[in-house]
Amino acid sequence: MTRLAFFVSGTGGNALNLLKACREGRVPAEPVLAIASSPKAAGLGRLQAEGLEGRVVERKAFESDGAFSEACYAACDAAGVDLICLAGWLKKLSIPPRWEGRILNIHPSLLPRFGGPGMYGMHVHRAVVAAGEQESGATVHLVDEVYDHGRILAQARVPVLPGDTPEALQARVYAAEMDLYPRALADFLKGR
Ligand code: GRF
Repeated sequence: MTRLAFFVSGTGGNALNLLKACREGRVPAEPVLAIASSPKAAGLGRLQAEGLEGRVVERKAFESDGAFSEACYAACDAAGVDLICLAGWLKKLSIPPRWEGRILNIHPSLLPRFGGPGMYGMHVHRAVVAAGEQESGATVHLVDEVYDHGRILAQARVPVLPGDTPEALQARVYAAEMDLYPRALADFLKGR
């Protein structure tokens, strides 16, 4: 069975949702590790409370993205992790060849639109509303060296409704993510 790690910087909502999907047999993988980029990431305690081993790896403890990334991968190697799911992870990772194609991310827009540096969280939804888009959504993709750029695995679309605030749009996209990420991960594992 594929051994999973979740990388979180925030609430851990997506990671908890994936954990549940694995434990209910909807995703054929075994979560074994959670890595948080800050001890303040609420997701870490929530995942540990579910019995997952948790580690904090802080960017500021390292001099480069590469050294930081290797510390994260070392924790993964020690736990026998095969696949990493970024779930609200906000730090830049370097992707060495051995991890290419083994790191997934979820982004709250229809990539390639509204992605890239600075496009995270509410910034994305503000930009979508300001652009007068009629549609938004979420994307699950493989992670490469360029922000929000790797191969797209699956997308979910939601309407942008007249009068939508960024907050209202975020809630609609987030609800779609809860269905999308487990489904995309299960399909990815099936195709591996
Ligand atoms: C999600 O909107 C996800 O698309 C993005 O960050 C948010 C994570 O939220 N990458 P949570 O920490 O899972 O609640």
